[in-house]
Amino acid sequence: MKATAKAHTNIALIKYWGKRDEQLFLPTNSSLSVTLDKFYTETSVHFSPDFHADRFILNDQQADPKEMEKITTFLDRIRNLSGKSLYATIDSKNYVPTAAGFASSASGFAALAAAATKAIGLDVDYRQLSQIARQGSGSASRSIYGGYVEWQKGEKADGSDCYALPIISEQDWDIRVLSVEVTTKAKKVLSREGMKRTVETSPFYSGWLEAVEKDLITARDAIKEKDFEKLGHVVEANALKMHATTLGANPPFMYWQSATVEVMQEVEELRAAGIEAYFTIDAGPNVKVLCQPKDEHAVRDKLSLLTVVREIHHCRPGPGITYLPIEK
Ligand code: DP6
Repeated sequence: MKATAKAHTNIALIKYWGKRDEQLFLPTNSSLSVTLDKFYTETSVHFSPDFHADRFILNDQQADPKEMEKITTFLDRIRNLSGKSLYATIDSKNYVPTAAGFASSASGFAALAAAATKAIGLDVDYRQLSQIARQGSGSASRSIYGGYVEWQKGEKADGSDCYALPIISEQDWDIRVLSVEVTTKAKKVLSREGMKRTVETSPFYSGWLEAVEKDLITARDAIKEKDFEKLGHVVEANALKMHATTLGANPPFMYWQSATVEVMQEVEELRAAGIEAYFTIDAGPNVKVLCQPKDEHAVRDKLSLLTVVREIHHCRPGPGITYLPIEK
């Protein structure tokens, strides 16, 4: 009853921002992402009647009680589905630089969902796996697949129509995502808390909901047509709209720092100089810059001149989950 799985992070091109059901992780809007090749999580799960509690080792360290609780709640769902009440030992390694502002929860829960279902003997397809991963962290629902992925919000109260599906694979369209790490000062509001506060208090949230479904259709069409300019424009505009909702929240908050804005402005200048680059930003100060392979070096050279830029990671569209051989 052992299995090991690997899952990659993803960056949202059209953002998931808000839940309609916090227990089931049902979002208020559909979202769209690209899975990235650089950053991933590898997780081994072992269920055994000999274990008397769940154990979770993350990067060779025993997880803290808060993390442990999230994992146990997640495993309980898998135990319920399988009808087996066995405890598990989980060994997980994150190859995600936390400072780069990528949510390791996306690759983390996707890898855990894949390894745990396999270890306990559940026969699930990718759609079901996406639904299971979603209940650990919403964005994890998208990391089941490689390439360009859409997470459909669904309509049903039980979440049975809420899962991610692939649009085109990582081989179908090569783009670059440069993850630009900037120097940071303030502590961030976690995405879970930030989206909740926004849904509950921001008068701009209704505007977000009005716009996001249209943005998603534009982005999906752009991906199918492989129209980089069309995709870049809608991705950047969608990120700006998401961040605008936080300014209206009570209390208001902002993920950007001055360094974030410097990078955003530099991207605008690149465009003015005829290089197609577009930014997107998640719940943190770092910026992800989309460009075409031919412009990758020009974009990097320009951005790395900024003193606020600490490091730039180069990513390509990456694969979905894979199962690895079990170590003896
Ligand atoms: C801004 O998936 O981390 O990155 O479902 O509460 O775990 P929970 O939130 P999470 O939120 C991600 C928010 C985002 C946008 C996105 O990835 O779509």
